[in-house]
Amino acid sequence: MESLSEKAQVLQKKIQDAISHAHTLEELEQVRLAYLTRQSELALLMAQLKTMTPEQKKEFGPRFNALRAQAEELYESKKKQLQQTQYQAHERKKEFFDVTAYQPRLRHGSLHPYTHVIEQIENVFISMGYCVVDGPELDDEYTNFEALNVPAHHPARDMQDTLWLELPKKLMRTQTSTLQIRSMQQQKPPLAILACGRAYRYEATDATHDYVFMQTEGLLVDKNISMANLLATTKTFLAAIFDTKRIELRIRPSYFPFVEPGVEIDMQCIFCSNGCSVCKQSRWIEIVGAGLVHPNVLKACNVDPSVYTGFAFGFGLTRLTMLRYGINDIRLLHSPDLDFLKQF
Ligand code: DAH
Repeated sequence: MESLSEKAQVLQKKIQDAISHAHTLEELEQVRLAYLTRQSELALLMAQLKTMTPEQKKEFGPRFNALRAQAEELYESKKKQLQQTQYQAHERKKEFFDVTAYQPRLRHGSLHPYTHVIEQIENVFISMGYCVVDGPELDDEYTNFEALNVPAHHPARDMQDTLWLELPKKLMRTQTSTLQIRSMQQQKPPLAILACGRAYRYEATDATHDYVFMQTEGLLVDKNISMANLLATTKTFLAAIFDTKRIELRIRPSYFPFVEPGVEIDMQCIFCSNGCSVCKQSRWIEIVGAGLVHPNVLKACNVDPSVYTGFAFGFGLTRLTMLRYGINDIRLLHSPDLDFLKQF
């Protein structure tokens, strides 16, 4: 039995050492698992009480119980101490705020210049009672040409190099004027529509041309519509887009198969007073192609030209956007270059 009491002493020492060497809660948990559970050395020692004589129980019972009580007490107080240390370390960490610490840079998105300009244009026209419409970019020969008074073999087809598809009579629209036709097919006059969208031409890319670009188309059909309405409308939207009341217009006769008479409307250069590179020293900037809707176009859409007249206009939205923001290369405007795009 001497050896049993020695065993108890050795165990007591082991437990005390283990607890005092535990520096973290995890390490302390390992100590608990090793010495304080039902399968631990201490439990095995205590189990021996069962097989002892009453005298031996009297001797060893209190010793073993004291040993266990002491071990548990040591364990609990160490646990409290470690928990406190951990909490304090955590609190200290919170107090320390490193302003120079690395923070990943957040990039914010911005609207594309087209989006800004389209929103402005649409808002002006909506305020004048127009409907914003949309249509397919892959369209047919009839809508893009024939209904717009450009029959097959008409020389005007050569002005717009077309991207034809392998499907019969299908093409990528060369102009948003297709929306004149699609709108009149869907709705009887009076009608006023505006469309901004892509147009495609089979041409090489340079600083001012791309095979895809943006156009805007407008159409108003009602009774007694004249050139005066067209000019007032043009002046109103240019004033809104360029944010100035100083819009001076000049009109020149021109030819577009779907209008008669056809005109080109120039705006006096708002960037200079005596010639600059934007107006090529001429003081005038060509902006809009327009005219009174050709009777053939009205007829193609079952609108009676003896009752209704209308005006139509179209302009290069790409060119207008470049003018508006002083962008001198279309390839930048159409590129995914984030350094360029984030300026807007
Ligand atoms: N569709 C013409 C083009 O692509 C622009 C145009 C001119 C549209 C005159 C019109 C118009 O509605 O009346 O060059």
